[in-house]
Amino acid sequence: MNRRTTLVAAIALTGSLALAGCSSSSDDATGTKSKETPKASDQAATKPQLSVSGGFMPEPTMPDMAGGFLTITNKGAADKLTSVTADFAGKSEIHETVDQKMKKVESFDIPANGELKLQRGGNHIMFLDVKKKPKKGDKVTVELHFAKSAPIKAELEVMDATHNPKSH
Ligand code: CU
Repeated sequence: MNRRTTLVAAIALTGSLALAGCSSSSDDATGTKSKETPKASDQAATKPQLSVSGGFMPEPTMPDMAGGFLTITNKGAADKLTSVTADFAGKSEIHETVDQKMKKVESFDIPANGELKLQRGGNHIMFLDVKKKPKKGDKVTVELHFAKSAPIKAELEVMDATHNPKSH
């Protein structure tokens, strides 16, 4: 229980930091070798203002793999989701689905004043080498990394294996 409390506090803290702490030295070239650079007009306008909602993980049916879904809402300039980390998985990737096949990608665009939806049958987070299989009712924490914004921690609620919120 203590651990859970600390975790929640840490998330709250990181969340507010992420909102307040956009550094001016952004546009870091580290990691992302993206082909398309953000339009100058996007950058001139404002910084990205990201928030995360609706995070969930269907209870994994595979022993060491799991998927994660969430929505990132952006009230500012364009950004990119560049990677995801999670301590319960040996490796976390971001995948798109093309012709019902999953494909690893380097980043997902988060449009200015728009949203990035990760949802079943489409773009998703893929957890590999899962150490301890999450069960329905659990909550797992992931950290989202962006091209410009500071990292954001998000909770994914573990739902039924078939859970698929259509109307949210
Ligand atoms: Cu995948």
